Amino acid sequence: GGDKLDFEIRPNPRPVDAAERAALMVDPGFGRVFTDHMVTARYAEGKGWYEARVEARAPIQMDPASAVLHYAQEIFEGLKAYRNADGTVTMFRPEANAERFSTSATRLAMPHLPEGAFVDSLRRLIDIDRDWIPTNGEDSLYLRPFMFANEVFLGVRPAMEYLYVVIASPVGSYFKNGIKPVNVWVSPDYTRAAPGGTGAAKCGGNYAASLLPQQQAAANGCDQVVFLDAVEQRWIDELGGMNIFFVYDDGTLVTPPLGTILPGITREAVMRLATDAGRAVIERPVAFDEWQRDAESGRIRETFACGTAAVITPIGEVRFEGGAFKLGDGGFGEVTMGLRKQLVDIQRGRTADPYGWVHKV
Ligand code: COI
Repeated sequence: GGDKLDFEIRPNPRPVDAAERAALMVDPGFGRVFTDHMVTARYAEGKGWYEARVEARAPIQMDPASAVLHYAQEIFEGLKAYRNADGTVTMFRPEANAERFSTSATRLAMPHLPEGAFVDSLRRLIDIDRDWIPTNGEDSLYLRPFMFANEVFLGVRPAMEYLYVVIASPVGSYFKNGIKPVNVWVSPDYTRAAPGGTGAAKCGGNYAASLLPQQQAAANGCDQVVFLDAVEQRWIDELGGMNIFFVYDDGTLVTPPLGTILPGITREAVMRLATDAGRAVIERPVAFDEWQRDAESGRIRETFACGTAAVITPIGEVRFEGGAFKLGDGGFGEVTMGLRKQLVDIQRGRTADPYGWVHKV
């Protein structure tokens, strides 16, 4: 078939009424409030994609032998839609998410959803749930496309049937209490991804593996876990759900190279913005002891986390087994906050977008 699917639009006959919707959107938090609709599309080997719909958001019927429930053959994406000050609705780099969704599908031995159909599905969901896009300047509509194996079969092989779904959620800040410096915990026990593993794919299994170390981070008073590489347990990979950048005293930005880490779209945008602002941006491994030493000497001035959900969040303090150190004074780094403003201003249409990242819906 072509690059597009024919989505049948079946409006929800019982949408949430306007007053209730407004109440839900006052302080939505992250990932707790959902819109009236969802996208679904089915895939079967030999048949291709079929029954593509925009329909009322509802529970999904699954057989207990559905393959995803046993072997975790699942991938997902995350991106945001914004309501600009002039009322325009935009998405940030949806084609980059479409491309990564395809790459993840390849790694998980899943079928490809045509990238045009992926972007189209987002447009259609945003369009029908337009009233759910927050007007509050810090909030947005988080879009969560995902695909999973729903063949009824317990053999361990790629499934022959899949379901693609998109849900949408009005969100505020990912971290409680809005934008403030977070503490991170360096996991002494667990790693996230080995060479040759699934680290570069956005699959649910990677996040499942992060939960126990993430829980230990919380027990140590931290908001996120930091993973070191699986081979030497020495090099910084990424956080539980976001990438990491180091800001040096000469203005250079350093971030771990691609390979076992999730190739973040925010990560790439930050690299581009910083490069175009005349900064040196270097992708290279950073050892944990180097981070500590350079943070203590002041050579590393700031460190921040970035991702679609996290946007750009300063890291205030690093805790590890046997110690802790701060980044700068533990507050809002100047370079971090400058990059954050630059990115958010583009995303929200407050400044011109010379990159073609912003797509009007
Ligand atoms: C995102 O940033 O969109 C993610 O998928 C990460 C997750 C922590 C919500």
